[in-house]
Amino acid sequence: MSHATVIGPGALGCLFAARLARCGVKTTLVDYREERAAVLRKIGITVETAEETYTEKPAIATRIPASCDFILVLTKAHSTRELRLPPKTPTLTLQNGLGNAETLAAAVGASHVLAGATSEAATWLDVGRVRHAASGRTEFGAWTTCPADAPQASLQQAGFDISITESPGKTVWEKVVVNAGINPLTALLNVSNGALLEKRETRELMRDLVVEATRVAGAEGYHFGHSLVEETERICEATRDNISSMLQDIRQKRRTEIGAISGEILRRGQNAMLPTPRTKVIYQLVRALEAE
Ligand code: PAF
Repeated sequence: MSHATVIGPGALGCLFAARLARCGVKTTLVDYREERAAVLRKIGITVETAEETYTEKPAIATRIPASCDFILVLTKAHSTRELRLPPKTPTLTLQNGLGNAETLAAAVGASHVLAGATSEAATWLDVGRVRHAASGRTEFGAWTTCPADAPQASLQQAGFDISITESPGKTVWEKVVVNAGINPLTALLNVSNGALLEKRETRELMRDLVVEATRVAGAEGYHFGHSLVEETERICEATRDNISSMLQDIRQKRRTEIGAISGEILRRGQNAMLPTPRTKVIYQLVRALEAE
């Protein structure tokens, strides 16, 4: 039996850990907070979907196990640097934001890192309770040479729609562009994703943010054969009732991932001498909201 470690007990971490455990993969969910880990150990993880509600009890640990077949990192981007990871274990990041794969590569070596993104949408309801709001594709690949077989097999066994890419940097950027359009606006306006499509002003602003982010991606050599504006609007529609991860953070008075999303776009745009005026204003507003 393969052994998966999922780091991060947020909405997506709970969803992935519960689904892996449910299909018979030996799963450890890592929650560094002792008290919350004790609660999770007792009550397990309950996942609500449109069709059913189920509870699974993966192993809960406060430290990353020294050995397993692969590690799935689903912590907030600003926590990546703090992870104490075992060497030589395939380590897959599906986190939001730019820079996670580079940070992991510096910690465990690029040849042990896989990176990508997921469009699975999950909402955190309470400790150990999440709603699976929408299914979506999960795409990842080797940052340099890490074999993808172990996570691919287990995640497919758990019923996730997996595809393997030779350009994980592009996959990460594509998701970041989408997040740069949706997440800050939902956080600032306190609305679900679908609401952004309903008013001309928010639709336009979302489009402008996506265009700015796409230009910065282009400056880093990433070009997309399709419109990321249309892609963002499609994801907004598909996750219409979802509360974005950034709005979930604001509501729970947690630090958001604005730094790894809009902050990185701003920084990289400045490096490439590309103006990103709307991204800058949105970034400043979310920082101000976080400080409230
Ligand atoms: O961060 C999120 O919330 C998700 O990536 C997405 C796709 C915007 C859906 O809510």
